[in-house]
Amino acid sequence: MFSVLATDSQSSARLGRMDLAHGTVETPIFMPVGTQGSVKTLHPREVEELGAQIILGNTYHLWLRPGHELVRDFGGLHKFTTWDKPILTDSGGFQVWSLAKLRKITEEGVRFNNHLDGSKMLLTPELSMEIQASLGSDIAMLFDECPPYPCDKDYAAKSLALTTRWARRCKAWTEKHQPRSGDGVQRHFGIVQGSIYADLREQSARELVDIGFDGYAVGGVSVGEPEEEMFRAIENAVPFLPHDKPRYAMGLGTPPQILEMIARGVDMFDCVMPTRVARHGMAFTLDGPIQIKNKVHERDERPLCETSPPHVAPFSRAYLRHLFRAGEILALRLLSYHNLHFYLRLVAGARQAIAAGNFLAFKDSFIRRYTQTDP
Ligand code: GUN
Repeated sequence: MFSVLATDSQSSARLGRMDLAHGTVETPIFMPVGTQGSVKTLHPREVEELGAQIILGNTYHLWLRPGHELVRDFGGLHKFTTWDKPILTDSGGFQVWSLAKLRKITEEGVRFNNHLDGSKMLLTPELSMEIQASLGSDIAMLFDECPPYPCDKDYAAKSLALTTRWARRCKAWTEKHQPRSGDGVQRHFGIVQGSIYADLREQSARELVDIGFDGYAVGGVSVGEPEEEMFRAIENAVPFLPHDKPRYAMGLGTPPQILEMIARGVDMFDCVMPTRVARHGMAFTLDGPIQIKNKVHERDERPLCETSPPHVAPFSRAYLRHLFRAGEILALRLLSYHNLHFYLRLVAGARQAIAAGNFLAFKDSFIRRYTQTDP
């Protein structure tokens, strides 16, 4: 389902291709986040037009509302949303952790009061896989525990042992209820945990690889740790993951972080950042992010960025600033469109550079310009 087409001679970057039930994905890839079955503010055809090859959905949200049985009865998440390219669903544990009230982790799963009506619920590894099977995503993530940061080693070790036991239960559920081969099969990715501890990251990766999944993610990153710890978590896991399976860094990152992760051998990324910050007036440019609401843009005739897509390029920064200040919905849409275009163009540039054998030069020159402050 995954082939490495080229590897960079100066870094661990690789160019790959993933064949999924709803289409092919070129890696390295960025996955726009569509938590509720919608990439916020954008029409699915716009998301396609931007060149997105795969988007992300969330088990937790779609289970609570509208319910996975309803989505299944509408023919699955692809039919329900009209997005007919690949979808990856996150397993729910991470979202329970960040949104639900009164969470309690037990061997069985996570008990919590849901954030919509406060009712008591229990999410287990088996139920997470069942929900994701009903949603019909192309890639389902395993149910894991994402420990907080900071986290002492004793807790991190116990937590990862639980994540491994849950991974075995997820695998057992999928083996019992899902076909193992065929065109439409759902793929399953394990999630490496272990916090900031190198030996625990290695242990987690080895245990998951031993059970055997279609791909592997590194989780528990970008949870408040310093950036060097985040890079180290990836470096501590990647050497123990198989070369011929896709690797996914969950919930990352800024544009320079994405390039740094690609250099460390990561193939897949998702992050709410481009769409979330867009709704607050932040736009990515080759010279770093800008805040469009700032007064400096009051009479700024320039477009957001020289690489803005045709839908956004004709608008001046002054007009976009005006739309934000006037509370116009178009402002949120245009910046979301622009920022996703920026991220998708970045990973497309990385793919091109890996193919051309000049990835490190591409990364360094992008980061130099992006982080350079005005003289
Ligand atoms: N999204 C960001 N980090 C994580 C993680 O550690 N686990 C899961 N399931 N989702 C995530």
